[in-house]
Amino acid sequence: MPLHHRIFRDETKLDINFIPYRLPHRSRELNLLMEFFSFALQFPGKMSQRIMITGNVGSGKTALSQRFGADITREANKRGINLCYIHVNCREYRGSLFLILHHVISVFHPNFPKRGYSAEELLRMLLKTLDDKSAFVILTLDEFESLVDREGSEAVYKLTRLQEIRQSKPQTLSLICILRNLKVIEQLDASTRSTLQSNIINLENYSKQQLIDILNDRVSLAFKPSTVSEDTIGLIAELSFSEGGNARFGIELLWRAGKYADAEDLNIVAPECARKAVSSIYPIMRKSDLSLLSVHEKLFLLALARFFEKSQKVYVSFTEAEQAYAVACEEFIVQPHSHTQLWKYLQNLSNLNIVKTESSTGGSRGRVTLISLLRISAHELKKELSALLEKEEA
Ligand SMILES: Nc1ncnc2c1ncn2[C@@H]1O[C@H](COP(=O)(O)OP(=O)(O)O)[C@@H](O)[C@H]1O
Ligand SMILES: [Mg+2]
Repeated sequence: MPLHHRIFRDETKLDINFIPYRLPHRSRELNLLMEFFSFALQFPGKMSQRIMITGNVGSGKTALSQRFGADITREANKRGINLCYIHVNCREYRGSLFLILHHVISVFHPNFPKRGYSAEELLRMLLKTLDDKSAFVILTLDEFESLVDREGSEAVYKLTRLQEIRQSKPQTLSLICILRNLKVIEQLDASTRSTLQSNIINLENYSKQQLIDILNDRVSLAFKPSTVSEDTIGLIAELSFSEGGNARFGIELLWRAGKYADAEDLNIVAPECARKAVSSIYPIMRKSDLSLLSVHEKLFLLALARFFEKSQKVYVSFTEAEQAYAVACEEFIVQPHSHTQLWKYLQNLSNLNIVKTESSTGGSRGRVTLISLLRISAHELKKELSALLEKEEA
């Protein structure tokens, strides 16, 4: 057991619930949200707002709205406005409007009884409470799909219409609905749909470079200086990019990779730690995939595995890989196959998603093919292949 963490400065910054102060590449959306609510800050009670935030898993929907919630609460307090941001994950309340509203009202009346009221009564009571306290609520319904699935149009209708019909009363309840895409909205009836659809903020999938920026930012919060190499970050960004630009996946990988480095008492989080991390997340590298490879594909892959196990690199050039393959052939006393055949093996390994190939502009040497191992630890791969090859030899 290491006596102190060599790697982590503050692991909690990689926690799934941590809301970073800065959200790289989401400032435009954050400003847009602020703009939508600026009227509410200037003229509290005159108008309530309805916003929808859409985007894929890990595109930052939850983080964005919670960051916004903290920012606007601070801004409102400065102006003496009693604003409360409440974030509920509808799935956690099994999509039940009653349970969601019960949670909201409990913010104002702790220990509010769970029996004896309907959802509609809870909503009326909530609005009454807000009137009495001159308070405003921004209610975020995260994983909104779950509410629509369970309650359909009815729930949304209640949430949006009930306060509209309260004549001459202030508009105190604003909604932010978070959902992956607008498909679920199509289930709702036309009038409910139209009350929701006015302001939509769609979060595009992150690019690899954006993921690199996000990861770098998190690295500086969570890790000691110079413990995570640029190559490791690049590899993790690549992996989360291939998972649909999923920043959550990237941050989880970063944490796990750090854990591997810590457990092995390393000074840095090497690319191999990230590969170990990803192969622990999904053991997609099924052994049957490997056993189906031809002997020379196995030898080629073994050469790659040995290269990555020894070096701290993320990429190997085709030329270097070919040399390492020749060494492996010698060891197993087989004649190396031709350059053209090796090229085909590489394509096959890439199609199987075992390796990734990309071409880079290699300066004076023209285009160079670079090979990386994505989802498996080089060490594991080497062990597996050596065992398979020895069996075949016997
Ligand atoms: N732009 C960003 N900057 C920093 N961290 C981000 C950013 N976008 C997402 N994250 C982080 O990635 C993870 C997933 O984001 P989250 O908001 O939960 O995604 P979603 O709700 O869209 O599935 C969280 O840990 C979040 O803090
Ligand atoms: Mg979310």
